[in-house]
Amino acid sequence: MSESSSPGAPCCLQVCRLMRPEDTNIVGNVHGGTILKMIEEAGCIVSTRHCNTQDGDHCVAALARVEKTEFLSPMFIGEVAHVSAEITYTSQRSVEVQAHVVAENILTGAKKLTNKAALWYVPCSLKNVEEIKDVPPITYASPELEEEGRKRYETQKALRQSSNERSDEVVAPPPNPEKHTVGFSQSSLIHLVGPSDCTMNDFVHGGVTMKLMDEVAGIVAARHCNTNIVTACVDAINFHRKIKKGSVVKVQGRMTFTSNRSMEIEVIVEVEPLVEVDKGKYCAVSAFFTFISLDKKNRPLPVPLLKVEGEDEERRFREGNARYLHNKEKRLAERERQQ
Ligand code: COA
Repeated sequence: MSESSSPGAPCCLQVCRLMRPEDTNIVGNVHGGTILKMIEEAGCIVSTRHCNTQDGDHCVAALARVEKTEFLSPMFIGEVAHVSAEITYTSQRSVEVQAHVVAENILTGAKKLTNKAALWYVPCSLKNVEEIKDVPPITYASPELEEEGRKRYETQKALRQSSNERSDEVVAPPPNPEKHTVGFSQSSLIHLVGPSDCTMNDFVHGGVTMKLMDEVAGIVAARHCNTNIVTACVDAINFHRKIKKGSVVKVQGRMTFTSNRSMEIEVIVEVEPLVEVDKGKYCAVSAFFTFISLDKKNRPLPVPLLKVEGEDEERRFREGNARYLHNKEKRLAERERQQ
């Protein structure tokens, strides 16, 4: 592990961990959720440490947003994941962390970049979790870097204001649904939030939630195509509400769209407080995951077309198609820019 955290200077952190069988699916690919959890842990450490380099109450950095994240290449059992996280921008009350994940084959020394992610954290006081603290400013290597960070901050703030909290419920599927329909692969898991899932102020770590979400999305994808599957990307996620220790979370996933070789799965996290029952159930977070079906040599396979039934499923399919075309266009433009 190496790191730097002098007050006022950009903070960074590097951690590494050997990938073990419990981190992977049945053929040895590391789960996207495991990678998201490692990224979030590094981001939480670096931003919490930075926000505590000032006088006053201690605070914990809560994950507020993850920008769209692509999984660039697979990682396997036996490889070492190197996660680096660096604070790249601070606003008055939020911190941007950019993280990179590199997989190292320790037999050959070969390394490949598997993920790049940008996360936003907000410091919440340990004494009163509803109180948001100011963030100590960082020093930038150049005015241009500060200006680029400010632009990213303004962009995500504008996007956030146009995306509302979800109210759409996942309806139980009909009995004996036909293969390749939405109801056939729809899946959910229920989890009791325990101490090991939580930060110092007893709220769930964003990485824990993202891992559960990836797990459910993976089950939906595998049920639809009955092959090995991998996470290709996750659209931007906003964490609107905290999830308290002792709550029951229901993570529900349903397929919304299929292209020739990709599947989009919507995941919704519903929270039921067990003690403060008067607060009622609420949707804490939702996101769209894209999965790819792979053959035995890890090459993308065609996926069965999703059979949609009724107006809502047709609408969600159309919206998924629009996101797919938009993302594809952006990806191709990015590739051209890099060549
Ligand atoms: N993404 C990025 N930044 C965000 C954000 C988001 N989704 N929501 C709020 N912020 C930033 C704001 O930009 C602001 O910083 P600024 O003043 O420098 O611009 C700061 O947070 C406070 O904004 P405000 O609107 O007053 O905050 P809020 O009342 O909406 O609370 C959270 C923000 C993040 C504390 C609140 O939404 C929350 O508790 N979310 C859940 C966090 C969590 O538990 N994460 C793990 C989930 S499993």
